[in-house]
Amino acid sequence: MVKVSVSDLSPGMELAEDVKTPGGRFLMPRGTRLERSHLTMLAGWGVGDVDVVVARPKAPPGPPSADRETPPAPEGPKPADFFEQAMEAARGRFVFVDLREEVAATVFRLSVARTAKRLARAALEASGKGAPAPKPQARPVPKPPAGAAAEPIPTPEDLLREDPQLVSLPEVFTRINEVLHDPRSSVEDAARIIGTDASLSAKLLKLVNSAFYRRASRAVEKRFPAKVDSLTRAVMIVGGKQLATLALGVSVLPIFRDIPPEYINMKAFWKHSIGCGMIARALAEHAGSSAGESSFVAGLLHDIGRLVLYKHLPGPSGASLRRSREEFITLTQAEGEIFGFDHGHLGGLLLRKWQYPAALEKMVRYHHDLGEPLFIEEPAVIHVADFLVNALEIGTSGEWRVPALLPAAVEALSLTGTDLKKVLAGVEERIEEVFASFFPGDGEALRGAP
Ligand SMILES: [Fe+2]
Ligand SMILES: [Fe+2]
Repeated sequence: MVKVSVSDLSPGMELAEDVKTPGGRFLMPRGTRLERSHLTMLAGWGVGDVDVVVARPKAPPGPPSADRETPPAPEGPKPADFFEQAMEAARGRFVFVDLREEVAATVFRLSVARTAKRLARAALEASGKGAPAPKPQARPVPKPPAGAAAEPIPTPEDLLREDPQLVSLPEVFTRINEVLHDPRSSVEDAARIIGTDASLSAKLLKLVNSAFYRRASRAVEKRFPAKVDSLTRAVMIVGGKQLATLALGVSVLPIFRDIPPEYINMKAFWKHSIGCGMIARALAEHAGSSAGESSFVAGLLHDIGRLVLYKHLPGPSGASLRRSREEFITLTQAEGEIFGFDHGHLGGLLLRKWQYPAALEKMVRYHHDLGEPLFIEEPAVIHVADFLVNALEIGTSGEWRVPALLPAAVEALSLTGTDLKKVLAGVEERIEEVFASFFPGDGEALRGAP
């Protein structure tokens, strides 16, 4: 280990100790392999010098050893190589995360294990085809089109006012919303209204029949052995108001189908969103909250503000994606700098405009800063779920590195690493199935099919 002045650092060096700002704020964990952006960040925070690992000199070529007779090791990478590569990739992605926290450290280890497994599987497939083993790939970042910086930025209110699609939602949405807000409305009212929209009903039935609701549907199946094939049965499984809440979430998906793919891969975006929703629902259940369905819908829509930005301000959105990559800040911070507000704020306003329940609006609005302490538990569920989908690379909404896990959120949900592992074990494998129920035919709905 040797102390090196920040001005003398170069990319590729490895930190031997955790780095803190002169004010004592944690910046990067020991083991971080420095990239150019790290160097900018260290200089920006006024860090003087850091401890780096001294590279071990390579052993000089010696005489042939006595074990010459030993058969040569099989060609190609070994499990330890995949683990090492996965560890290095994860260190780069987790730089905003305080890995001394038990929950964050557990998720870091899970992420490394998943990446190593993925690399090993890819290498096995490649060797079958006689190709070299692939390395972890960096996600491409769109280049902002020329003149993007000069594009005027409207206020969030103006942005939402100008889009006729965002202003007038399908009639079924408005009617479901009325049912949700009317204490006199019945389960049958909710089912009847949803039933007037064939595409929406089909999607909800698929969702309710998926493994996501297996436990709840088992109880209904005992009484009604056939598959759930009517909305009334779907109502029995998830409840009338909950089905209406789900319908609210599902009915807005087609609005954002025409976003240019160079800004966001919509399939990856909805996987991130559905994954976040499913984990949020499981976290809410784990915390003993009855807001499972609201948490699912809030997770599904938590980054909807980003879709509004990609759709209406593609130039500055591309610039924010690039800035987050180059300047060592999160995409949410880059949005704040470029737009003057972030996607959580914009998404919250949109849900308010659509008259979603206030709790849902808060979960979306504050999922990155947790907002008012009084409401901390609800947005905390979305914050932790979002951290997990980012950390485990379940889809993406554009964030390149893993955003920080706020200790207040972990505390609000009284979470431990063991809890999180349990929650994930019950959910992860079902994400693909639920994704398919939203987007049958590999993204058919993303292309705007009814
Ligand atoms: Fe977000
Ligand atoms: Fe997100």
